[in-house]
Formats: sequence, C-alpha cells, structure tokens
Amino acid sequence: MKYSLLFSPFKVGPLNLKNRLIMAPLFLGYANSDGTISEMLLQHYRDMAASGVSMVVTENIVVDFEYSGTRGTLRADKDDYLPGLKELARTIKENGALACCQINHQGSYAWVTTPVSASAVQTSMDGPMPVAMEQKQIQDTIKAFATAALRVKKAGFDAVEIHGGYLLAQFLSPHTNKRNDEYGGSLENRMRFPMMVVQAVKEAVGPNYPVGYRFLGDEWLPDGFLPTESLRYAMILERIGINYLSVTAGTYESFFLPEKVALASQPGYMVELAEVVKRQVKIPVIVAGRINTPELAEEILTQKKADLIGLARVLFIDPQWVKKATAEPAEKIKHCPPDCYVCMETVMNMEPVICPLWQPERKKRLLELLSHRVS
Ligand SMILES: Cc1cc2nc3c(=O)[nH]c(=O)nc-3n(C[C@H](O)[C@H](O)[C@H](O)COP(=O)(O)O)c2cc1C
Repeated sequence: MKYSLLFSPFKVGPLNLKNRLIMAPLFLGYANSDGTISEMLLQHYRDMAASGVSMVVTENIVVDFEYSGTRGTLRADKDDYLPGLKELARTIKENGALACCQINHQGSYAWVTTPVSASAVQTSMDGPMPVAMEQKQIQDTIKAFATAALRVKKAGFDAVEIHGGYLLAQFLSPHTNKRNDEYGGSLENRMRFPMMVVQAVKEAVGPNYPVGYRFLGDEWLPDGFLPTESLRYAMILERIGINYLSVTAGTYESFFLPEKVALASQPGYMVELAEVVKRQVKIPVIVAGRINTPELAEEILTQKKADLIGLARVLFIDPQWVKKATAEPAEKIKHCPPDCYVCMETVMNMEPVICPLWQPERKKRLLELLSHRVS
C-alpha cells in the first residue's frame, strides 16, 4: 500500500487512531460573536472530520471570558456553552474522526480592555499593556482550566488539548515573565503555573481521559523560551501524565521576523524541532507546518522524526488531501501558497476566513452560511 506508515493505525493513550493524520487547531473566526456555535462553524468541522483524518483538534476555546474572550472565540467557561460543545463534538464524531478540544487562555494576546499575563510586558502588536496576574488570579485561572476540561469531557469529546502557547508560554518565557515570586526567575519557577494547570486538568478529568499539550518548543526569540529549556519541560510534561505533545514554534512577536517568515514558508518547517522533542520523550509527538504532500508525511514517519502528522491550513485549503493521497492514480493536492497571509491577517482583524483558493462551490456554500452567522 502507498504510504503504509501514514495510513497505519496508532494508539495515543487509550485512543485508537485509524491513521497518523490529525487536523491541527485552526482558529478561523467562524463562531458567533458571543462565542456560541454557528452553522458555518459546524459545516467547517463537518468538512474537516469527513476528510479522512483520524482526529480533529478544535481551534482554541477559551477557559475564561473576562480576561481571555475575544470576539468570535468559542467558550468553555460556563455550562451555558455545554450544549454547543456537545453539538460540536457530535458533529466531528459523526463525520468519522475522533474529537479533541483545545482549551486556552490568551493572556496578553486577548482582545480585552485589560489583558493579564505573567508580567506587564507588552507583547501584542497594538493591544493594551497586560497586567501581571496576582496570586488569586493565578489560582482562579488554574481552576478555570480544570472546570473547562471537565466540561469538554462532559460534552463528549474524546480528548482535551491544553494550549501551551499564549498565557502558559508567557509564564514559561524569560522574555515575558519578569516576576520575582515563586512563578518567576528560574525555569523551575517559570514552569510552576503551567504545571499546576496540567495537574489540575488531569485531576479534573481523571487518570484515563487523554490530555494532550500544544507544546511551544521554541519561541524563536533570542531571550525567549528555547529548546535548551523546553526539552526539560517536555520531559516533565511526560512525567506528569500528558498523553502527547503537539509541537509548535514562534509567537506573534517572532512570526513576522524576516528570517522566520522565510523559514515558515518551507515545507515541514517544524520537523527539525519535533525530531529533537521526540528524542526526549516516549509519548507521541505531532508535527505540523506545511506538510503539503503525503510523500513528505511518510518520510517524516519513516525517519521517526514524529509519530503523527498535523494538518491545519494544509487541510483547510484542500479537505480532499487525505482522499487524494490514496486515490489511484494519485490526484494533485492544492497547496497553501507560502506567500499568502490571508487567513492570518483575516483572523487578526477578527473577521471570518474565506480562503481565496477554495473551489467556487465551497466558497459559495461557506459565504451563504456566513450570512447567517451572528456577528
Ligand atoms: C489562521 C491560523 C489560526 C491558528 N489557530 C490555532 C489555534 O487556535 N490553536 C493552535 O494551537 N494553533 C493554531 N494555529 C497553528 C496551526 O495549528 C499550525 O501549527 C500551523 O498553522 C502550521 O500548520 P499548517 O502549515 O498545516 O497550517 C493557527 C494557525 C493559523 C495560520
């Protein structure tokens, strides 16, 4: 069989994956502006789940609305959102994929009047200066992650993924964490808050429920969170019961540095980092980043650089990726152009993303649903 590793089953903790392809989280601004599920959002997830990937990881869903809610982000901070989360989980599962829900606190990147972070360090391009979190806020946020994770489990998701970027990374990074209490300074101290979040989530969902982690392996800033420290953190995450690491690199501060723009335009641009992480841990490692072809995906697996392949924009632009990979004769997969920033720019303007490269019927269908979305 062509791509025999890519299409072989795999186990992640108790989860049985039918192949090695995962839809990586992709926030597109499709929810209603109040954080509820729209028909446009459901249609998008129907398409992604029906694509043939083994698991869909949702876009980041916020655990706290007051300090993290941005217009158009889904919410997991209250039971009022449980029916919507149930519908989302059901939609993904009914269309053939396992459903994993990513939970997040956006920290200094939240579009709120007074964002919070580890320290008062300006991060987002033009947002307000964040306020350093006080002890009580830290404890409340840990609880918010735990209750949101339990809500995700109750909603019927097969797994929860903690977003280790944003607020959690702002505590880990010496660039954004200037605290001089037990949460700042040494790596041990900077890891304290994210580790408490993981432990509280694990306790809330119980030992047998899978918990993944979006793992910022390299902040791509000279004074940031770098592999010299992140690899130690990876081993700790494994020890405290995380079931997989989904590797990423960069933050809004570093994405737009010319050398990183050039790097991120390359196919498989995070593979090298994923490989280094994989050598440190025994738990499965997911790698994403312009894995445009099944040939590249199979090579990554054959060379044991990662265990699972994440597709975000790659699947969004061509939901037929998986079917085309197995078609006889092989069909040409449509690639996300390396110099296109439409989706990134659109979400940063808080608008829903319509990919300019979609087939006309798909575009028409989504635009029609967009007109029903409450903005
Ligand atoms: C518009 C956009 C939204 C994204 N949203 C999320 C998100 O909500 N959570 C997350 O962990 N990563 C998010 N990512 C990162 C992707 O999951 C992925 O790591 C990255 O885009 C590289 O994979 P790709 O080349 O297949 O898109 C986003 C990326 C883009 C471009």
